[in-house]
Formats: sequence, structure tokens, C-alpha cells
Amino acid sequence: MQPLTRQLGDVIPLPVSVRPDPAANFPISTHLSVSAPTEAADIAEQLAELLRHATGRPVSRTSGEDEEAASFRILLDGYDKNPDDRNGTAAEAYGLEINSETVTLRAGSNQGLFAALQTLRQLLPEEPADEIVLPGGRIEDEPRFAYRGTMLDLARHYFEPADIRSFIDAIAQLKINHLHLHLTDDQGWRLEIPGWPRLTEIGGGPGTGVDGAGPGFLTIPEYADLVAYAAARYITIVPEIDLPGHVNVVQVAYPELTADGQPVPPRTDAEVGYSSLVAGKEETYTFVEDVIRVVSDLTPGPYLHIGGDEAFSTPPEDYRTFLNRVLPLAGKYGKRAIGWHEIAAVDLPPTAIPQYWRIEPADGGVAKAAAAGHQVIMSPADRAYLDMKYDQDSPLGLDWAGVVGVERSYDWDPADRLPGVGEESLLGVEAPLWSETLRSLADVQFMAFPRLAAIAEIGWTPRADREWRSFRARLAAFGPRWTAQGINYYRSPEIDWA
Ligand code: ACM
Repeated sequence: MQPLTRQLGDVIPLPVSVRPDPAANFPISTHLSVSAPTEAADIAEQLAELLRHATGRPVSRTSGEDEEAASFRILLDGYDKNPDDRNGTAAEAYGLEINSETVTLRAGSNQGLFAALQTLRQLLPEEPADEIVLPGGRIEDEPRFAYRGTMLDLARHYFEPADIRSFIDAIAQLKINHLHLHLTDDQGWRLEIPGWPRLTEIGGGPGTGVDGAGPGFLTIPEYADLVAYAAARYITIVPEIDLPGHVNVVQVAYPELTADGQPVPPRTDAEVGYSSLVAGKEETYTFVEDVIRVVSDLTPGPYLHIGGDEAFSTPPEDYRTFLNRVLPLAGKYGKRAIGWHEIAAVDLPPTAIPQYWRIEPADGGVAKAAAAGHQVIMSPADRAYLDMKYDQDSPLGLDWAGVVGVERSYDWDPADRLPGVGEESLLGVEAPLWSETLRSLADVQFMAFPRLAAIAEIGWTPRADREWRSFRARLAAFGPRWTAQGINYYRSPEIDWA
């Protein structure tokens, strides 16, 4: 018997149920074939491609009478572990069964099959190999939270679409299913908005970004392509337009949006909290509604992030006036508003979602919102911010929330983070990556990996099954996979890398 390539449970995030059956190991030596119903043809092609790459062998697609004989079977058959779908996670549930002759991927939707494929990917070696033995047994799986996200800050440094696509590929294999794009901030505006051309002519032009080192912007077709690229990997794009603070570049481009109508100079430093839209000016709402309408129309996903953080130069009464007018605009254009948790200071529309990002042990506003039935996204900076340094010697990143090593990013639970915000209040968890100190895709990868794997597991795996020692060992085994993919992950000394 050939040695196993991987153990059945060698997967990040750890699946809900893993039942190995060593008598059923599957040596990949025979002719490989994939069968699938027509509705899952795209998943079947992805599986065939994965197998061709891993084995170097031809892989045929079978149909009709030959289906029973296929070595890899895809079934879309109402696999239904969670019929009332309480958390909105049922579409991602799947089963994966490996026996000595066949591998079966089963789910009620293509999204579940895609998750099964990500699990199978990790049971294959990271480099193509002649002799592969898949571990026999059965996995049954489903996420803990519907929202498992990460965020890229395109405002402090713009990343080209090719870099964003590469990041999307890297996060999809960890079953991250939301990518929040921070599109606007004091230093840059990164999405074309018809009718407001100076936003991107000035806000995306030369010299924008922190230290002037990150110019560029997404055209509407580029944004639409990214949304589609993400959707093909079951990742929802969550666009953020940060309001009413973090708007200096808007006021550089359109001085009529300042309090006195006078121009302000562009800024490329990393200060926060000095700029604000003007709550008492009608022009403000013309601008904001145009932007919200355009971004909502371009975005098929259910969410629109309106920022709301660090509005230190917006008087509290103005902040309330502003948000009371702007939050309902998300609903008007068919979206659920997400905002950084400062928005919990106002009376929120019922579907609005505060995203907790600070480091304090409690937050009255968020607790009150949760008590009123709001869902919350958990992103505490001292655990989930991917831009914090790993340790004091990290060449990139900030440390205002402390240093965040890999164990620190893993060993916490979102349902314990804030009093009054328990499991039932959580939509999920997100790991934001701010880009003040980043200049390249390699920098993004260095900060995101391996810590995003920790957040991915927190978002997916049942809390009672999570354990640092197990994660640490599986992460060590994952390292060569990142290496093979050309991903510049941080070789943290906390891990005994394989
Ligand atoms: C934030 O970090 N200002 C949300």
C-alpha cells in the first residue's frame, strides 16, 4: 500500500466532522474521470483541472451511462444538514466521501460543491506528483458563520486588478467568502463615479496614497470584472465608501463640499479624523446619494459599507444628522448598510450591521444594537487586524493595537469578545488589511498569511473543535502549499514549518 499523501483532517479550516477510514484509501493510479449534473458543469471542470494539475494525467468527463463508473462524482442532490438554515450557512454545506474506488462530492448547491473542492484541493499534494493516495473516509461540513471576510485598503495604496484577483484566489482556498474593498479615504478615491470625474482624476491620480506611493483607480468595467471574478469563486464583494470622515480627497476634488467652499490641500500622511463632509449642506447629500446609487448598481451583493469611523471632526449632532439621512439610502438602493461600529451611536435601520473594530473590552453602542436585534461583524484590531505587526521586528505594519502573532490571531472567540454580543448576534468575522505601510502584492501576502488562515478557521469551524496545537500543525503543513503557489507568507517562528 502506498503511503498517504495527506491525512483526511489535514484541512484549514478544520471541517465539522472527519471520519477517516484507512481501509478505503484511494490510490490515484487508474484512469481519472469526473461526472456531474449539467447544473454543476462549471464545478466539474474546476475539479477536472485540479486533478489534471495534481496528477499530470488526463481526466475525462463522463455523462449518461458512464456516470456510475466515474472515479470522481459530483452530486447536487439537496444535501441538507440544516433545513431551516438559521445562520444562512446551508448553501455552503457539503459532504466529501473517499473510498477505494470513488470520490464523491455532494452538496445542495454549487457553492457547497465549491467548498468541497477547496477541501479536496488540500488533500492533494501541493506539487504535481505521480503517486497520490487520497485518504479514505468521510467529511461532513458546514460553516459556523455566514460572513467570513477580509478587507483590502485600496485607498492608502492602490492595488491593480491582477493583484486583487491573485488575492481572491488565495482567500478562496481558505473558504473566505466576502472581500471588503476600502475604496476611499483621505489619501485616495479608487472607483470611477460617473458625473464626478475629478474624484478619480485627482483622487486616483499621481501622488495619491500614503507618501504619494499608491496611485490608480478602478474603472467601472474593471470593478465589474472583479465582482464577477470574485463571484465565480463564491466571494461577495463588499464596497466601502467611507463617510462622513476620511474624505479629504473628495474635498480636494470638489471644494463645494467643504464648509466654506474653499479648496483644501491634498494629504498623503497617515493622520486620521481631520476631514468631514458637512451635515448641514444640501450638496453633501446630492453627492452621497449619487455615489451610493452608482456603487449599489455596480454591486450585486447585498451589502454596502458606508464607513462611519473616526469622524473626530464631525460634531456628534452632525454625525447623527448625517447618518440619519445616509443610512436609509443604502436601503433605498437595495442594500444592507454595514458601518464601522461608531454608527451604533445613532438609531440604525433594522438591517444595518455594525462592524466592531476597536480594542476595548466592551462597547455599549454595539451591545445595544445587538440587543435590538442587529447582526454584528467582529473585527477587533488586537486579534483580527492583518496590518498589525507580528512582533516588534516586523518590517511592515503598525502597532497601535499591539503586536498580533499567529497564536494571538487564532486563540480568541468572536462570541466572547464583547459583553452583550453573543453567538446569535454575529453575522460573522472579518480580518481587515489596511495598507499605509504596504506597497506591493508581496506585502499584502506577507501580512495576510498565515494570519488570515486563523481567522478563516474561527469563522468556519465549530468553536468547541478549535485548538491551537491542531491548527499550528495543520498550518505547518500548509506552508509548502503557499510556497508552491508563489505566496510570500510570513514564516512565523511560532510554527514548525514543514
Ligand atoms: C478603522 O480602523 N478606522 C476602522
